[in-house]
Amino acid sequence: MPLFLWDEAFSVNVRELDDQHRRLIGLLNDLQKALQGTAPKERWWKALEEFGQLTARNFETEERLVLLHEAPDYIAHRVHHDRFLNQFGEYREQLESERVRLSLPFLEDLADWWRNHIVDFDAKCGAWLNQKGVV
Ligand SMILES: [Fe+2]
Repeated sequence: MPLFLWDEAFSVNVRELDDQHRRLIGLLNDLQKALQGTAPKERWWKALEEFGQLTARNFETEERLVLLHEAPDYIAHRVHHDRFLNQFGEYREQLESERVRLSLPFLEDLADWWRNHIVDFDAKCGAWLNQKGVV
């Protein structure tokens, strides 16, 4: 069973953001698959790097739209993004230097973070953007 099943409840009704979120969720599921068995680092590192890069791009896209359209919760949303990037960056460094191993609990935490973030922050952001004509 995939780690994170996409359904319409996770749509924020802004196409660019939904596309990015779906790709991020796909990468999380790829990482979960790569973990089954004793996957060597080469098998999952590329997906983890793409996940980190796409996360940064998704946050930049949202923050640009939120600022441009003066959405009300810019600071709280930005803080939530920055905290994620810091924690992910630390973990990425530990994985790169092989001080920790990629684990299912870590991927489950990532999936939980994204579920909560999309529902708590991105959905409100999407509703505001829709009012401003962004779809
Ligand atoms: Fe966000």
